Amino acid sequence: MSKISTVKAFISLLAITVLAVPATSSTDSFVFGGCSQLKFTPGSPYESNVNLLLTSLVNSATFTTYSNFTVKSPTSQDTLYGLFQCRGDLSNGDCGRCVARAVSQLGTLCLDSSGGALQLEGCFVKYDNATFLGVEDKTEVLHKCGPLIGYDSDEMNRRDAMLDYLGTGDGSYKPFRVGGVGGVSSVAQCVQDLSANNNQNDEVEKTLAILIGLIAAVALLIVFLSFLRKACEKGKGGK
Ligand SMILES: *[C@@H]1O[C@H](CO)[C@@H](O)[C@H](O)[C@H]1NC(C)=O
Ligand SMILES: *[C@@H]1O[C@H](CO)[C@@H](O)[C@H](O)[C@H]1NC(C)=O
Repeated sequence: MSKISTVKAFISLLAITVLAVPATSSTDSFVFGGCSQLKFTPGSPYESNVNLLLTSLVNSATFTTYSNFTVKSPTSQDTLYGLFQCRGDLSNGDCGRCVARAVSQLGTLCLDSSGGALQLEGCFVKYDNATFLGVEDKTEVLHKCGPLIGYDSDEMNRRDAMLDYLGTGDGSYKPFRVGGVGGVSSVAQCVQDLSANNNQNDEVEKTLAILIGLIAAVALLIVFLSFLRKACEKGKGGK
């Protein structure tokens, strides 16, 4: 056993998106968002902690594409956890802008909510007072398909090949991957929250949800899948 390969990769969420015309796809496009039902009291220490956490995420996103933060508080219910994950093909500048945009939208979408998460095309942001870092999440949060294009076996084969590619692990750690066959392209992004002290088996530690977007000529398919088993495995260290 060994090096860092024994550190298991934990992914909580992946986003995939594909671009018909890659250069023109906006990283700011809304994909999904959700808020905790519980509300905090405005003006409370909880609110200051949320603001501190989100500000830290925004600042950090200008120089890295993934980070997590914990804002500790004397009372555990006011302790906050948060992370952001930018798509692997974004520059630091674009990542920073995307996270800033997501945080700003979260503030509106999840006004006074104790927790919230938002996925834009280019980045994912989440905060909560229940720890979720390193915890896999297989929830399908979005299932969205483009216009039907009728049965086209070539197209379907290309799509399936793409999904297979995205979901296949070769043992190396690839939190971000892109693929393209014919007119179909795809992108997958795992959230890189690792858990160094986790001993659960391989099944559990890998991936989670994926958002896949495929665009073939006219077709746009966006789905969240949880089959991306080994895709984001960090090394083959697990038994
Ligand atoms: C999170 O914060 C809310 C609002 O203050 C509180 O009601 C809830 O109990 C907290 N949850 C945890 C897990 O501490
Ligand atoms: C959170 O970030 C710290 C570094 O700031 C890192 O050591 C830790 O592994 C991260 N935790 C998770 C769950 O990603």
